[in-house]
Amino acid sequence: MPSRKPAVLVARAVPDAVLQRLREHLEVDDNQADEPLSAAELSARLAGKVGLLATTGERVDAALLAAHPQLRAVANMAVGYNNLDVAAMTAAGVLASNTPDVLTETTADFGFALMMATARRIAESEHFLRAGRWRKWSWDLFAGAEVHGSTLAILGMGRIGQAIARRGALGFGMRVIYHNRSRLPAADEVPLKARYVDKATLLREADHLVLVLPYAPESHHTIGAAELALMKPTATLTNIARGGIVDDAALAAALRARRIAAAGLDVFEGEPAVHPDLLDIPNVVLTPHIASASVATRTAMAALAADNLIAALTGGKPPTPINPEVLAARPA
Ligand code: 8YV
Repeated sequence: MPSRKPAVLVARAVPDAVLQRLREHLEVDDNQADEPLSAAELSARLAGKVGLLATTGERVDAALLAAHPQLRAVANMAVGYNNLDVAAMTAAGVLASNTPDVLTETTADFGFALMMATARRIAESEHFLRAGRWRKWSWDLFAGAEVHGSTLAILGMGRIGQAIARRGALGFGMRVIYHNRSRLPAADEVPLKARYVDKATLLREADHLVLVLPYAPESHHTIGAAELALMKPTATLTNIARGGIVDDAALAAALRARRIAAAGLDVFEGEPAVHPDLLDIPNVVLTPHIASASVATRTAMAALAADNLIAALTGGKPPTPINPEVLAARPA
């Protein structure tokens, strides 16, 4: 007998328990082999599907929506959703959802760790040791920048930005300055003694600049040569936001010229490709987009995406919709 469950595509591998839960409610075409799908493969696999569980590697744009008028819901397994054309989805009556909150603290842990590894030259010194180059102790061997008591500058003071600020202010006695589209209410600023500043002041005063803003066409190359030129030569830059927010070629040139001291990058323009100039300079720590990657958090993200997809397609209330107006417009 043919299945009456709504048919969905799960674009990439997810934990088995999450797949099992999806199968209880939905007819699932999975990709547990975890081969990334090209745009053409994604479109082909979506034939006849009303739902998609996506990662940031899958683009849902007007062309895909036009090719799949049967599509009703896309659950993104990420808090960032610059891979989704939400306006086009809303116009097409397709519910979009993401996975906020469950990854905030884990991602902040990683952002802080990457900033510290960058400031204290952990990766660079480890490579030196593994290469058999450690011959003697010296007073300035891999001497880096101070973290405690320094100025933590956060660009993008959303949930993750605030969680990083808490770590800096309360755990490491850092002075927190931030820039954001809008200033935080005093109740959020006061416990962290966080000071709202304009972008130029943020760049000039930063000892450690951490980028946590969402990607949008307006935030493309928010940090380029002109911005890097405002920073202290002793400063570090950490990007856990999105590739494209930093001009990677300009950053590589600034690092090579020691215009700034060092950088920590978890995201890249055009990833998984990495700008070749970044690969052969020592003062940059490079990680493969793993800021939310603890087992518990990635499992929670997959589970939340599954909850969103199941609810959207079985008449429930999705927990974290991006365009809930789509649901309101649907006939009861
Ligand atoms: C995801 C992320 O793991 O949530 C986000 O926005 O960048 C990461 O946590 C990644 O994008 C996979 O979808």
